[in-house]
Amino acid sequence: MAIAFTLNGKPTTVDVPPEMPLLWVLRDELDLKGTKFGCGRSFCGACTVHVDGEPQRSCRMAVSRARGREITTIEGLSEDGAHPVQAAWQEIDVPQCGYCQAGQIMSASALLASNPQPTDSDIDEAMSGNICRCATYTRIRAAIHRAADLAQAPPTSHETATGGSEA
Ligand code: FES
Ligand code: FES
Repeated sequence: MAIAFTLNGKPTTVDVPPEMPLLWVLRDELDLKGTKFGCGRSFCGACTVHVDGEPQRSCRMAVSRARGREITTIEGLSEDGAHPVQAAWQEIDVPQCGYCQAGQIMSASALLASNPQPTDSDIDEAMSGNICRCATYTRIRAAIHRAADLAQAPPTSHETATGGSEA
């Protein structure tokens, strides 16, 4: 079945079974490997993408529910990796193994879009569904505060950014 949606700003159509999880479509049909499979059961957050700007677990979202909607993955968060969250992640050197980090960044960027200056408890609540087996939580929290500051005062040219890892 043909299903059309906007993916990272571009009109996209896939011809797949409607019940196929969006995560499968992203990784296997569209070759966007930044979004990761962790648990497949909405428990870990590794597969988080934005759907109409809201964080969603793509492992449990049938692709049919993407029809007509705006989907953003880690590859589309910014054109050059300069989104304030990506810049802050790089500056604070958040990742350890990196596997969970695309999902962390997508949840963090959705949080900041709705709450530009979150408190520690706002962050803990918004990020509670994103598990990091390397326990980078302290750096994640620091990076979200830093991203909030960067969003208000854009990074200078020497500050570079990071994007999704391939795996
Ligand atoms: S893979 Fe989707 S929440 Fe774990
Ligand atoms: S950095 Fe390894 S699981 Fe989060």
